[in-house]
Amino acid sequence: MSPKSLLRNRASLTHKLAYAIRNPARITPYLRRTARDAWLRVKHPRHVDYYRAVMASDAARNPEAAVGSQSHERWLALGEMQFDYLTEHGLKPVHRMLDIGCGNLRAGWRFIDYLDTGNYYGIDISPDILISAKKTLTTYELQAKLPHLTLTHDLTLDFLPDGHFDVVHAHSVFSHSPIEVIDECLAHVGRILAPGGFFDFTFDRTEGAEHQVLREDFYYRTETLLRLARKHGLEARFMEDWEKRPHGQSKIRVNNVNNFDHVDHTA
Ligand SMILES: C[S@@+](CC[C@H](N)C(=O)[O-])C[C@H]1O[C@@H](n2cnc3c(N)ncnc32)[C@H](O)[C@@H]1O
Repeated sequence: MSPKSLLRNRASLTHKLAYAIRNPARITPYLRRTARDAWLRVKHPRHVDYYRAVMASDAARNPEAAVGSQSHERWLALGEMQFDYLTEHGLKPVHRMLDIGCGNLRAGWRFIDYLDTGNYYGIDISPDILISAKKTLTTYELQAKLPHLTLTHDLTLDFLPDGHFDVVHAHSVFSHSPIEVIDECLAHVGRILAPGGFFDFTFDRTEGAEHQVLREDFYYRTETLLRLARKHGLEARFMEDWEKRPHGQSKIRVNNVNNFDHVDHTA
């Protein structure tokens, strides 16, 4: 990411005007989205309800675009990028994985295919995108892998067992989340992590002022999120090796402190 883009404040009027001048064709769609989102925010004051409504509207048009991919090629590439990164970082078929905000299984289908039967657990706040996830599962003929796909309303993770997951993953989820949603997740994720397990999440990074756009996109400083994780007794580090991937977001990895035993479910 360029130093200039890390300092950009997309919520500022100057940025919006300059962007509009450079991209006149995007003005009308942006105004339409602004009006729709304003209406949805009035109807749904709680963030998760609001974002669920945004997903319902977006997924009705195009589920792949709803998870952020403007073409099927990009959808495939973004899934592959997530899969390659985790396998390079030691993900094995025997591991148990929780995919927070799994969307329509852009990466999920690859994890389901790779992991042993029943070892993939996807959760999402959007029933519409989970219906699309089931279609992806059918397209790739992965029924026999029996993944869990569950609708959730919060990130307390209270319905999941202690010390169960070797890898917890949230890709392009905190980039759509206000700080209280991230705080809730970090407060509870340590409980469900297996010994030696880790939680990777991506975020939209700024090195300037933290800001949000339409309450759809949230930009955080790395230090804010590292501090938040540490407040909940977790060890957290910025993943420098993710930066070289062609993805606009950054990544943080979180571990349970004093919880670094080797993961071996075969023992
Ligand atoms: C940009 S999409 C990414 C989907 C998937 N992780 C991927 O990379 O293809 C974000 C997803 O996170 C879900 N989401 C947003 N906020 C969430 C939350 N607080 N808890 C669970 N899922 C959430 C959305 O419904 C959406 O499916």
